[in-house]
Amino acid sequence: MNYQKLKEKYGTPLYIYNVDVMKENIIQYQNNFKSNQFETEIIYASKAFNIKAMLRLLMRYGLSLDVVSLGELYTAKKVGFPMQKIYFHGNNKSEEELRYAISEEVGIIVVDNLMELKLLDELAKGLKKKINIYIRLNVGVEAHTHKYIVTAHVDSKFGVMYDGKEYREMLEVLQNSPYIKLQGFHSHIGSQIFDLAPYDAVIEKLVKMIKDFDRPLGINLGGGFGVSYTDADHPIPFDVVSKHLIQTMEAELKNQNVRLHKLSIEPGRSIVAEAGQTLYTIGGVKQTPNKLYYFIDGGMTDNIRPALYEALYHADIVGKENQFKNKIATIAGKCCESGDVIIENILLPEAAKGDLLITYSTGAYGYSMSSNYNKALTPAVVFVEEDKDELVVRRQSLDELLEREI
Ligand code: LLP
Repeated sequence: MNYQKLKEKYGTPLYIYNVDVMKENIIQYQNNFKSNQFETEIIYASKAFNIKAMLRLLMRYGLSLDVVSLGELYTAKKVGFPMQKIYFHGNNKSEEELRYAISEEVGIIVVDNLMELKLLDELAKGLKKKINIYIRLNVGVEAHTHKYIVTAHVDSKFGVMYDGKEYREMLEVLQNSPYIKLQGFHSHIGSQIFDLAPYDAVIEKLVKMIKDFDRPLGINLGGGFGVSYTDADHPIPFDVVSKHLIQTMEAELKNQNVRLHKLSIEPGRSIVAEAGQTLYTIGGVKQTPNKLYYFIDGGMTDNIRPALYEALYHADIVGKENQFKNKIATIAGKCCESGDVIIENILLPEAAKGDLLITYSTGAYGYSMSSNYNKALTPAVVFVEEDKDELVVRRQSLDELLEREI
């Protein structure tokens, strides 16, 4: 990657995505997540990185899409994403969002709770539309990951407890509704998971759930498959993950003598994280009594994950990748906030003003969680495919920053 050229062309900070890596990830899933006993489906969790160019790429591969807001859904609509391939998630979807999803004939609404189901039933009656749903279940499986990213513990805001009163009331509503059809169950147990055992537990529980129905339903296992941010992370290759889930499911179906209509997974991070890098320019170096800072021209506004989750990243000084790393540096952003640090204590060569710094594995939840704090401008996004670069999101301008202010 010619970072210098990209800087001259697009400026920094800059999000750079290697499209070939994303394609490879998609293909790994597609080639291995299949069974001859049930249908399979790969649903990209677009919260990880949802821009038009990304959705167009997914369309080329025929993936399905998970959206969680009107904004994500509208982006899909704008690129002509097939609405039937969309799963609409969310713990508190508004009436406006649900109406929009129904009128656009979104494939599946993943219903989070009883209140939502009742509202959906009313809306469906009013609009005289049939709606296909999954129910999001809290299966009580806890995946060991950062506490902010865990979703399926007993007090989670997501989903209904699989054996609770609310769940049974939902089944009653469904029995009496000519408009709403249950197509399956969904569970998402967390993110950046390196262990497949929690998924095995989920499979066992969900197969038990669908056993009670007189027709084959679907099971959506959510996403969460871990990626490598630093050398300390050892993700399970996606082909192994895929085969494991399929085999576990096949064995469990046999074991419990159950038929499954479709098995889905919802990877977000694992498709885009390692494909993305962020390019910065070092504006200055500061030595305090105990710390050496390298100041970059972005920071928590383009990557909030270190501040929010204590997430770790790896970095290099462009052109000095193979030089002796004799400095312990802290990479700090430019926000008026001490917590605006991208990497704490990383071994790097000596840097000078004007050097370029690249951080790796920033493709997931970087751009999508970016902010205008301190009125920083959102960086541009570039896709690089077979060495050709293409601008897919323009850098925000000052006027765009103020566009909505009256
Ligand atoms: N499906 C559902 C219902 C989800 O809630 C999520 C992520 C996914 C799929 C995709 O998970 P993934 O494969 O990307 O791990 N902002 C946090 C991550 C929050 C994940 C929320 N849900 C971060 O930056 O680490």
